[in-house]
Amino acid sequence: MKLWGGRFTKPTNQLVDEYTASIHFDKKLAQYDIEGSLAHAEMLKVCGIISEEDANAITEGLKTVALKIKHGEAELLDEHEDIHMNVEKLLIEEVGPVGGKLHTGRSRNDQVALDMRLYLRDALMEIGNLLIAVQESLYKQAQANLDTVLPGYTHLQRAQPVLFAHHMMAYVFMFQRDVDRLFDSCKRVNKSPLGAGALAGTTFPIDRKFVAEKLHFDSICENSLDAVSDRDFVVEFLSNASLIGMHLSRLCEELVQWSSAEFNFIELDDAFSTGSSMMPQKKNPDIAELVRGKTGRIYGHLIGMLTTLKGLPLAYNKDMQEDKEGMFDTVETLQGALALFAPMIETMDVKSENMYEAVSKDFSNATDFADYLVRKGMPFRESHAVVGQVVLHCIEQDKYLLDLTIEEYQQFSDLVETDIYEVLSPEAVVNARDVAGGTAKVRVEEQFEAAAGLFEKN
Ligand code: ARG
Repeated sequence: MKLWGGRFTKPTNQLVDEYTASIHFDKKLAQYDIEGSLAHAEMLKVCGIISEEDANAITEGLKTVALKIKHGEAELLDEHEDIHMNVEKLLIEEVGPVGGKLHTGRSRNDQVALDMRLYLRDALMEIGNLLIAVQESLYKQAQANLDTVLPGYTHLQRAQPVLFAHHMMAYVFMFQRDVDRLFDSCKRVNKSPLGAGALAGTTFPIDRKFVAEKLHFDSICENSLDAVSDRDFVVEFLSNASLIGMHLSRLCEELVQWSSAEFNFIELDDAFSTGSSMMPQKKNPDIAELVRGKTGRIYGHLIGMLTTLKGLPLAYNKDMQEDKEGMFDTVETLQGALALFAPMIETMDVKSENMYEAVSKDFSNATDFADYLVRKGMPFRESHAVVGQVVLHCIEQDKYLLDLTIEEYQQFSDLVETDIYEVLSPEAVVNARDVAGGTAKVRVEEQFEAAAGLFEKN
């Protein structure tokens, strides 16, 4: 007999049971569901809604059910639809009809919203901490390679040299905003919907704040309809997760490029690379590729959740059962990616000489030549044109700027003197960008300090 079987004259068709059941995925919520029920039962007792004796029986029964589920000793059935009714059935099996008092003043609608919030609250903390570990791995690589210069790109064309540390720190700050967003979203997740009932509240003299405090919520949801019908906190998480995925994916793309023979800027550790079943020479950056690839499914879950919610009238609708799989999958996808990312970054070999070689064989010091002429009195627009002509000359002669003799320079402008050679070296070019947030070594060191403060705060 179903928990809600009273008004029905026949059993449900088995296909209906299978189709409407969520137990095969919402069993992940078991511990949170029982945690919520324990708090609810205690509140019912404190408010005099059930007797102390009944409350004790329910509490003991719930603890036993929790252990049985944990050890795989409880049978979770489609015919009981979801985790909430499975737990209630198990409780009644354990303690008898008194177990049926647990659901007093409660609906699965506020119960499921509660479970989702409890689950997500833990997941946010865990993902936030994993992200901080990734930040720390980037920070360590930045500090270990403070003098390494590599080409900086725009349009994937060599643009201006930057410090490798500057490049790593860019990601540290991106991930910092992601961490901030996750932790900020906690205050919207951390509100208790319990007591909203099915949609309108309950006729019992419950104490919502008691339950909220017991479960370490900051406060209660102010409106019962809102409490049971919105999943904006799930959307917000999926959106924040999408940004994390996007940032990770950009870094992945760079790692993939950098480990190619064409770039040859880094080598990932053997322990964090894979081979080919056919080509014996291959060493592939599979993790980076897969993290890049899995970003797509996170975006999919975001748009899926938004679409599920957009046409729903207040309050609860069964459509909302679709809120879980995308959330679980996103949490697990991020946990998997982030746990691998920190050690992969930390163990990667940074090939400083190759980076330096690259930056010495390009025209990424051309802006500095133009700026040099400006400092000697030439308007920038004019110096831009002059340097463009010098670059063209170099390309024709198969040379780089630093290969030119002073006489060659002076054919283009008599403002050039021998100090040009110093100005155009990769180190000089980098250190010339001595502006707050720039790539000069001292400015990157300032970023280290700023970031160290951020880690402490978390
Ligand atoms: N399994 C349901 C869900 O995940 C629980 C709430 C069901 N409530 C209801 N009245 N059918 O959304």
